[in-house]
Amino acid sequence: MNSSLQADEKVLVTGASGFIALHILDVLLSERFHVIGTVRSKDKGEKIKKSFEELYPYAQLDFEIVPDVAAAHAFDGILKKYPDIKHILHTASPFSFGSGKSMEETYLIPATHGTRNILESTKNLGKNVKHVVITSSFASILNLDREGDSSFIHTEKTWNPITWDIAKANEITSYIASKKLAEELSWKFLEENKSDVNFTITTVTPPYVLGPQMFDWGLERSSLNTSAEIVNQALQSTPASKGPFDVPNGVACDVRDVALLHMLPLRNENLAGHRLFPISGTGLKQRDYEDAKFNLQRVLDVMNTKFPELRGKISPGDIKDNKPYLDKIYYYNNDETCQLTGVEFKPFDVTIYDSTKQILDYEKLQSKS
Ligand SMILES: *[C@@H]1O[C@H](CO)[C@@H](O)[C@H](O)[C@H]1NC(C)=O
Ligand SMILES: *[C@@H]1O[C@H](CO)[C@@H](O)[C@H](O)[C@H]1NC(C)=O
Ligand SMILES: *[C@@H]1O[C@H](CO)[C@@H](O)[C@H](O)[C@H]1NC(C)=O
Repeated sequence: MNSSLQADEKVLVTGASGFIALHILDVLLSERFHVIGTVRSKDKGEKIKKSFEELYPYAQLDFEIVPDVAAAHAFDGILKKYPDIKHILHTASPFSFGSGKSMEETYLIPATHGTRNILESTKNLGKNVKHVVITSSFASILNLDREGDSSFIHTEKTWNPITWDIAKANEITSYIASKKLAEELSWKFLEENKSDVNFTITTVTPPYVLGPQMFDWGLERSSLNTSAEIVNQALQSTPASKGPFDVPNGVACDVRDVALLHMLPLRNENLAGHRLFPISGTGLKQRDYEDAKFNLQRVLDVMNTKFPELRGKISPGDIKDNKPYLDKIYYYNNDETCQLTGVEFKPFDVTIYDSTKQILDYEKLQSKS
């Protein structure tokens, strides 16, 4: 292998403008990968390229337009144009919102077709692809009947038992099932086609993804992410705000850790064939299996403790003993991921601190100009 080849190790990142994907681009570019990102519009690509070039003058970053990742052969053109792509990170999670559409059309078809497309294109055209990393979700792990059940520990081995027939009754379960079915499809695809392909698959199964936006422009109203919304909700509260403060709730992880887990399989063959499960506050040094459980009260507690200037402006919440509420959330353990990767996952406080600080600094800047 010569050094010029190493200097141009191409990675395709689908859905490159997403909240998680921008942090993935950051890790990849800082590790000197040559990134090819897919976006839905030219403007988006140009804005992202400009921001990364300010950060990394040596960045090798190109964008390709893919209007609909769920359309047949959506990725064929890109794999033909760049036959030396070595890794593919599939983060695109298409939705097709709109009234009058069935649950199949809104959730199932976009999610599963997007995943099938990238795998089929890779099998047929990506002769040099070694690693495929797929952004799955805790939705494909969780068992909805075991919320708050301390005898049921969700791990990398747990599969959501939900079937499409049951799930299609409502929006939330349809979304959850589509994520699970898309991940299941990718493992089946590999299993059944393993004699014809040369690539490995690793999936990443994040629960609620919180943390700062990659760039301040991500804080502009129109682009704020729904998961990251809870930080905003807490910041916009007032001492007069009424609860409930036990919702929204869930299991958290930090967007920067999620991004790191997408890069590691490109460097570590031991991660092939695994599901990587990021969770706030876990690691080989810190084995805290409570830290990731959050609700609005907990976000407010962190803000009121760490930012004296917010005290008296935002709500203190009204839950004095939060433990019984947090105990009603899913139980989990990600020892396998911690052992395989050695990552010490950022504690919840750090994630909330960094997100809040980014927003406060941004607001100060806006009010000055
Ligand atoms: C935020 O998350 C939603 C839902 O997962 C996604 O559709 C949207 O593209 C994300 N927004 C940004 C700015 O990444
Ligand atoms: C194996 O690959 C072919 C495409 O080349 C695809 O049609 C088939 O569905 C794959 N098998 C599975 C189980 O997904
Ligand atoms: C897999 O890789 C080997 C060695 O690089 C190559 O000879 C073979 O043709 C590849 N197989 C496929 C299906 O691409």
